[in-house]
Amino acid sequence: MEKRIAVLPGDGIGKEVVKGAIEVLQAVGERFGHQFHFEYGKIGGEAIDTVGTPLPDETVELCKQSDAVLLGAVGGPKWESQPVHLRPERGLLKIRKELNLYANLRPTTYFQSLADSSPLRKEVIENVDMLMVRELTGGLYFGKPSERIQQNGRDAVVDTLFYQRNEMERVIKLAFELAKSRTGKVTSVDKANVLESSRMWREVAEEIAKDYPEVELEHMLVDNAAMQLVRKPTQFDVIVTENLFGDILSDEASVLTGSLGMLPSASLSEAGPYLYEPIHGSAPDIEGRNLANPLATILSAAMMLRLSFNMNEEAEAIEQAVSQVLEAGYRTGDIMAFGKHQVSTTEMVEQVKATLLDNEAIL
Ligand code: NAD
Ligand code: IPM
Ligand code: MN
Repeated sequence: MEKRIAVLPGDGIGKEVVKGAIEVLQAVGERFGHQFHFEYGKIGGEAIDTVGTPLPDETVELCKQSDAVLLGAVGGPKWESQPVHLRPERGLLKIRKELNLYANLRPTTYFQSLADSSPLRKEVIENVDMLMVRELTGGLYFGKPSERIQQNGRDAVVDTLFYQRNEMERVIKLAFELAKSRTGKVTSVDKANVLESSRMWREVAEEIAKDYPEVELEHMLVDNAAMQLVRKPTQFDVIVTENLFGDILSDEASVLTGSLGMLPSASLSEAGPYLYEPIHGSAPDIEGRNLANPLATILSAAMMLRLSFNMNEEAEAIEQAVSQVLEAGYRTGDIMAFGKHQVSTTEMVEQVKATLLDNEAIL
């Protein structure tokens, strides 16, 4: 098959991990006889520095004409004091909105070989398999007004949490659909004891649940959910929640796998193209040093193969290669444990590629 992939590396380690994922996709192409065409677009700080805006129109066009989008990460200290329209994160929010990517899937899977990399005990994280479904184009991230104001001569500020009912419906419905092919449980996370938006969220979840008698629905308040995630994560299957809660809880969930550098994501729309990115950021503290863990992005590429191209065998080949490399003891610094081989970003990528191509020889 031939596929066009828009590549937006962004800033910091975004560039390093995307380079690795592309090499792995090329290896998949080689092994399975596909042609992937990679076309690069600018986003984030790099776009601000070179063309004066965090998301140029050409990048949006490129994405819209592609079969899928692969993104690294944006941001960094260089742009932190910029006015809001010149912040790298604006570019990311805008591409999500432009492509109508309303649902962000963030799976947390247990790698047996990483049990010793998590700060949590093995008995707690063993067999964790959950899918966070995060609403991605609404809530506090996009509500207007969002600005500094004056109130009775004093400095004040307002951010707006706004949702249309149908924005809740579509993402919650998707969570139920996904739960049907898993263990059949949806945990809807909200703050219904305080927020009106959460009370509507809960109401919508109840309504949608009626169409899915085979799926169990439970509601959980977000503060409790944050605690339950580290107390007993195996109680969760699909978690569905609004934008900001999902952002925070998914970083927390990544620790169950051993590191933020392990968690991939897929952002879905009604018509496509979908966008794939690791959940982590540009990690300015390690950028440019060949230290970043590329596996979250490599696993995001696997999600792309499965969800955008229907290439299940190819996706599994990547996931299997990643598992094998971890089992063989190769670790970047973030998942390093006593007695293992510490490798750089590029060495990790080489290991995954070699394993992928080597497995072909075995078949
Ligand atoms: P971060 O996710 O960049 O880093 C948090 C910590 O995790 C750091 O110590 C970092 O070194 C480590 N880490 C993250 N990814 C790693 C990887 N692949 N391998 C090894 N270690 C890894 O979050 P932050 O430091 O709060 O934010 C830095 C910048 O990134 C900010 O500008 C923020 O806005 C941006 N950001 C962007 C995205 C995105 O583009 N999707 C996501 C989160 C943060
Ligand atoms: C993420 C990031 C982004 C978010 C930021 C950089 C806008 O943290 O993708 O998780 O909050 O969505
Ligand atoms: Mn985040």
